[in-house]
Amino acid sequence: MGLTVGAAVPAVGFASGARAASRTSAASSAASTDSSLVFDPSSYTELTTSITDTTGTAHEVVHHFYKVASYVVNPVDATYQSLNVSVPVKIDGSIVDASGAPILFANQVGGYMPSSVANATGIGAGGGMGPGGPGGPAERRSAHADSAASRQQLALAAGYVVVEPGARGRSLVDSSGTYYGTAPAAIVDLKAAVRYVKFNKGRIPGNVDRIVSAGVSAGGALSSLLGASGDSPVYDSYLRELGAADASDAIFATGAWCPITDLEHADMAYEWNWGANLLSSGSAVDQTISKALSSAYGDYLASLRLTAKGFGTLTARNLDEYLVRTHLEPSATQYLAALSAADRATYLAANSFITWSGGRAAFSWADFLTHVGARKKNTPAFDAFDLSAPENNEFGTGTTANRHFTLYSLRHEEGASARLDSDIPAKLHLMNPMYHLVDRVNEHRSKHWWIRLGTKDSDTALTVAGNLAARLKNLGDDVDTSYYWDAGHGADNDPGDFVKWIATVSGYRS
Ligand code: DHB
Repeated sequence: MGLTVGAAVPAVGFASGARAASRTSAASSAASTDSSLVFDPSSYTELTTSITDTTGTAHEVVHHFYKVASYVVNPVDATYQSLNVSVPVKIDGSIVDASGAPILFANQVGGYMPSSVANATGIGAGGGMGPGGPGGPAERRSAHADSAASRQQLALAAGYVVVEPGARGRSLVDSSGTYYGTAPAAIVDLKAAVRYVKFNKGRIPGNVDRIVSAGVSAGGALSSLLGASGDSPVYDSYLRELGAADASDAIFATGAWCPITDLEHADMAYEWNWGANLLSSGSAVDQTISKALSSAYGDYLASLRLTAKGFGTLTARNLDEYLVRTHLEPSATQYLAALSAADRATYLAANSFITWSGGRAAFSWADFLTHVGARKKNTPAFDAFDLSAPENNEFGTGTTANRHFTLYSLRHEEGASARLDSDIPAKLHLMNPMYHLVDRVNEHRSKHWWIRLGTKDSDTALTVAGNLAARLKNLGDDVDTSYYWDAGHGADNDPGDFVKWIATVSGYRS
């Protein structure tokens, strides 16, 4: 299957690329800077893959697969700071010209862990649930042996260019015991990868002004952060240190599935949402802690000043009703409407909390919570008192693996006068899309958003995606939000629709 072509000298000297290259050499050190970030259009492996689309039709896709050893001049660890590019050239026997196609920028991050594409010999393969399958981050790219295509493969079969970047993650530690993949490493890397793609305008196939990011869970968080923070100067020093290409890191559109984001407010949101639900062991979480966090959520929510049609300002008192009417009932309605009459009757008989009338589902927030059942996480869910949560590690630094990043958890452990480490507030901003949408409204953000979440996903509060969507709508962006009824963490129930959405928002006709 693999035919390697071209060790030929790359065609450099496109006007825009050359200008950008000279700026890069000014911003960093070595003269080799320019050529090491120049994409070589002639160095690829030609592969042929059969990709079955979401209607069940198989397509023979001939494509060029490029490996970029590093997207920065000074990689800390090129195993992670590298990327792959896949470009369709023939689909079902017809020649494809992808030079103007949208670019799917699909990160592979799960659990804020490191993600590498360095050893991949082809485009990310599938699995019924995409990269965010039920097994959790560690199992993501191995456990799914079924035949469904990955998001990347579906995009390729639709004629799009696919970029798969790796990124550093929280567990990376060097021989001196120093953590080098904790916040903000992953977002800095993804931005550097976007800059690499944009720097190579005219050399890299595809339309670099139509980059559409995608990611699931922690990858969904990073995707939404990438979308919200385009060209924000707060990352400049980090990007300069890596020798990132001198180009924009703003992206056109953003897809985010179950984003685990807004981390410094997620403990409060979690208790507001799931506070009354039991753990899977059957025990309740500490109700004193849960109630303290839950009541603090109201102040945070008020500070966002979110508004929604029919609700006015969203508060801790109407947010439940907002979620039910705006996201959850439409989700159940869509699910039930798609069932046969017999299956719908069976479902409704087993779930009598739902009223089905006039083709619509209706229910209360309290009944919905009972229906979801066990909460996944103890309290606090993200800034664990014993520093055992993945997010404690994400905010590690130097030789300290895990740190507190909320005053609440810190003071619970260390007393009322304890203060967060002085670097923490800025790092929280670097990691939170809401900072770029609320505190500083970033005009260079994506203006097109695809946000998805399963209604049974208690990895974080349902409000996290809801608030993100509400804020973006308030800013006037084009936001397509849908909650998948009864679906758990990592679900992607409408991958074909996402591929179509990319064409719609980017105005692309192949
Ligand atoms: C992921 C899941 C979590 O529950 C979390 O806290 C962080 C990341 C994930 O699946 O990526």
